[in-house]
Amino acid sequence: MKIPHIPVLLDEIVEVFKDIKGEYIVDCTVGYGGHSEALLKRYPDKKLICIDQDDEALKFSKARLAPFKDRVIFKKGRFSSHISQLKELDIGGILADIGVSSLQLDQADRGFRFDSNRLDMRMDTNINFDAKQLINSYTQSDLQRVLKEYGQIREYKKMASLIIQNRPFDSAKELSSLIAKHFRSSKIHPATLLFQALRIEVNDEIGELRRLLQSIKNLNISNLVVAIISFHSLEDKEVKSAFKEWSQNCICPKEAIKCECGGDSSLGKILTKKPITPTGEEIANNPRSRSSKLRAFRFADR
Ligand SMILES: C[S@@+](CC[C@H](N)C(=O)[O-])C[C@H]1O[C@@H](n2cnc3c(N)ncnc32)[C@H](O)[C@@H]1O
Repeated sequence: MKIPHIPVLLDEIVEVFKDIKGEYIVDCTVGYGGHSEALLKRYPDKKLICIDQDDEALKFSKARLAPFKDRVIFKKGRFSSHISQLKELDIGGILADIGVSSLQLDQADRGFRFDSNRLDMRMDTNINFDAKQLINSYTQSDLQRVLKEYGQIREYKKMASLIIQNRPFDSAKELSSLIAKHFRSSKIHPATLLFQALRIEVNDEIGELRRLLQSIKNLNISNLVVAIISFHSLEDKEVKSAFKEWSQNCICPKEAIKCECGGDSSLGKILTKKPITPTGEEIANNPRSRSSKLRAFRFADR
């Protein structure tokens, strides 16, 4: 079995769940099963709930994890909608390794690549909205918002105008070569940040992460360990600020003169004061791991 995705921060993920309570670990982004397989091997008394919205990834991980089939439940769909339905189960850990898999990025017909004949970028190919619709239909101000917020592109206004003047686009190839003709970039392809922004918008990645964090907070399970790997500074910011808010004892509004909430509102503690990042050796073996950041939180024992 040729495995199309190398899991990042694998040993660190296994370590983070080392003394969890609860029967289940939820892998919100099972992808090609790398993290799930390592957890199943290392913790033989645990069961896994494996979620993904990508049919191809689920098919692969079902085959890969077949030796553990009595301990794995697969769920297709977005993690934000599945998590809130798992209330009744005895959950000890939740893992989310958010972003795209290498197979999604590398396989030309998924339309994430600069040289692809398609312009798609959907992780879930059953949804009705893809990058081609986005690029050919968004208003100038919506396009500017996406390029600015999700791509952090300095020249977002110029790029949005160029796209609007030259649309419609039929393929990623047409779009990326237009951008390469008009923009310069020293280390990366000039369309890298544009493609990142389109992908985040098409899959509502920031919205999904926010809903996931809110659902986990609502579960508020005693002793639950949550580990989230992100690859984008905006995502890391969301995770960092949610964990900070959950850990705070005082939840009075900032402008309050004295504490009126009782000062014991903390839901638990942050396990990673600073995010865990890959070692030089991991980056050398898997350059795609270089921007990954792992943050973890443990809900209090009640
Ligand atoms: C970085 S890969 C995960 C790789 C996995 N940890 C492994 O070891 O193979 C991210 C996966 O998350 C899935 N994904 C991203 N956002 C999702 C969401 N909101 N709901 C469900 N799956 C999602 C993608 O389809 C992709 O397969």
